[in-house]
Amino acid sequence: MIFDTHCHLNDEKLLQNVDEIIENARKVGVNRFLVVGWDKDSSLTAIKLAEQYEGVYAAIGFHPENIFDATEEDFQETMKYIDHPKVVAVGEIGLDYHWTKDQTKRELQKEWFIKQIEFANEHHKPISIHNREAFLDCLAILKEHKPLYSGVMHCYSGSVELLKDVLNLGLYIGLDGPLTFLNAKTPKEVCEVVPLERLLVETDCPYLSPHPLRGTVNEPKNIVLIIDEVTRLKGLSKKHILDVTYNNANKLFGLE
Ligand code: NI
Repeated sequence: MIFDTHCHLNDEKLLQNVDEIIENARKVGVNRFLVVGWDKDSSLTAIKLAEQYEGVYAAIGFHPENIFDATEEDFQETMKYIDHPKVVAVGEIGLDYHWTKDQTKRELQKEWFIKQIEFANEHHKPISIHNREAFLDCLAILKEHKPLYSGVMHCYSGSVELLKDVLNLGLYIGLDGPLTFLNAKTPKEVCEVVPLERLLVETDCPYLSPHPLRGTVNEPKNIVLIIDEVTRLKGLSKKHILDVTYNNANKLFGLE
């Protein structure tokens, strides 16, 4: 059994064929999906999908690139569903300095990140963290505002050295399609050294299709390509990788 711990079935590219996409994923063993929101509408759609499909769960929150248009009212209207039985995390939240160069805007991203970590702590939920080119600020915030119910560094893109800091915070490491890219040196090194009991597999679909599907619309069924690469790099049996990563995800999100 496989848990895709970060997918956007709420993205319009996937939403139109979601029945078929879930069915095709189940055929290859993916039976649990965490649908992650990035703003109010996508979070509410994630909840609707979770209500509609068995094995589908929702993460609700505001992505750092989507906070600029969001109001406090949007935040309240979204996060009031935090105790919904299928909402299992706050996400995706964090910092993205790739597209945001303006310092005032970066400060705003930090405020929203902190606000959402604290909200998750108050409501006993783990977080799904988006971090792009903002590693040191991201770590500083996480050290000062510890996610008390843990979380995952989604699509971990840092070095092996920084991995220790993330692991010391008690967080999980999410690995995605880039692990399979032929030129992916750092993610492969990270995969080799990360303790298996802290590893999660995710697709981030419709983005980040694994090799050899790069450039196509990604789907949860493609997670098997990521698992094959983890299996190869770890040098362990595929069954062991499947069992441990599935159990990790259920443990993090408080599921049986
Ligand atoms: Ni995402």
